[in-house]
Amino acid sequence: MKIGILTGGGDCPGLNAVVRGVTKSALRRGWEVIGFRDGYRGLVEQDFTQLHDHDVSGIIIRGGTILGTSNTANPFAYTLPPLGSAAKPKDLSSLAFRNFKALGLDALVAIGGDGTLTMAEQLHKRGMPVVGVPKTIDNDLSATDVTFGFDSALRVATEAVDRVHTTAESHNRVMIVETMGRYAGWIALRAGIAGGGDVILLPEIPYKPEDIVAAVMDRKRRGKKFSIIVVAEGARPAKGRMTVASVVKGSPDPLRLGGVSYKIAALLDKSRVGLESRVVVLGHVQRGGEPTAFDRWLATGFGVKAAELLAKRRFGRMVSFRKYSFADVKIAEAVGRLRRVTPSSPEVRGALAVGVGFGNRKVTGDGR
Ligand code: F6P
Repeated sequence: MKIGILTGGGDCPGLNAVVRGVTKSALRRGWEVIGFRDGYRGLVEQDFTQLHDHDVSGIIIRGGTILGTSNTANPFAYTLPPLGSAAKPKDLSSLAFRNFKALGLDALVAIGGDGTLTMAEQLHKRGMPVVGVPKTIDNDLSATDVTFGFDSALRVATEAVDRVHTTAESHNRVMIVETMGRYAGWIALRAGIAGGGDVILLPEIPYKPEDIVAAVMDRKRRGKKFSIIVVAEGARPAKGRMTVASVVKGSPDPLRLGGVSYKIAALLDKSRVGLESRVVVLGHVQRGGEPTAFDRWLATGFGVKAAELLAKRRFGRMVSFRKYSFADVKIAEAVGRLRRVTPSSPEVRGALAVGVGFGNRKVTGDGR
């Protein structure tokens, strides 16, 4: 077999471990492997590199992706640079097919999030033999219990919450830590619980300003003169929208988020809680650096499983991790449906049980 691999969408720790897992097990089967550069751009523009054992050796600990990635290159709506130019995106999928054939490829492994996998499914529907591998630090893909990258992002976010604790306590301040998490608040939820946050704000539980203020005041009355608020970038008020930092025209997901934490700080100042607040926006720090042991292990298993699916010619499938074992599902069933936090879940109820507030007493039913 001759296979192609690409990594698409936002990067995350563990991508290299998947590339290594697929490549090593493919080479051991006697296959040839090429890696496309910058996601689907490499497929459309015939930009690729042959992958040998020495190319993937030693990369398991490296963050990012040795292949490069793009969250704008879509073969079905291709925008030539500069992004945001007036030129209309073009459907270059036939070119992608021609390149695939010209290279003598038998299959493509697409490693990415919902966007990348949706494109993979579209290509598969038109006849390209594709296998998908789910990736996102947001951990919001349905059909897999967990995605690689999430655990690494969580480690960074939890460490940040731990670190602001001591400074919040020393200064009697409210520290607001903003995590990534566009439509799903898994990072904020787990880092908030693990780091002992007092209020956790999630996209799934629109917040009421008065309930955030009440939680901080309540702690103050109980002698706790500092509070830690962990907020996902996609959190929004019950009467309002997400905080959009900028709009990038021509990008499959044009909204760049960030900055909701400043709104929470302004709210606390306005409400005269009598405590100063400070903001830490973690941003891409959460996506960088070495993957955790769990992510390396998960990503390697995903890579090996993807090669197994190729060997069995089970195309149109995505590898997944369910109930602590590697499995696979139809890509079509996995995309377009996000796995989000359920406000009534045992996890949220557990957090409430140890005194965490979610900024909306009506939704969470907590007494504070
Ligand atoms: O989807 C993963 C994610 O990390 C989101 O949480 C975040 O909003 C987005 O990527 C940021 O993407 P970019 O790298 O394009 O700014």
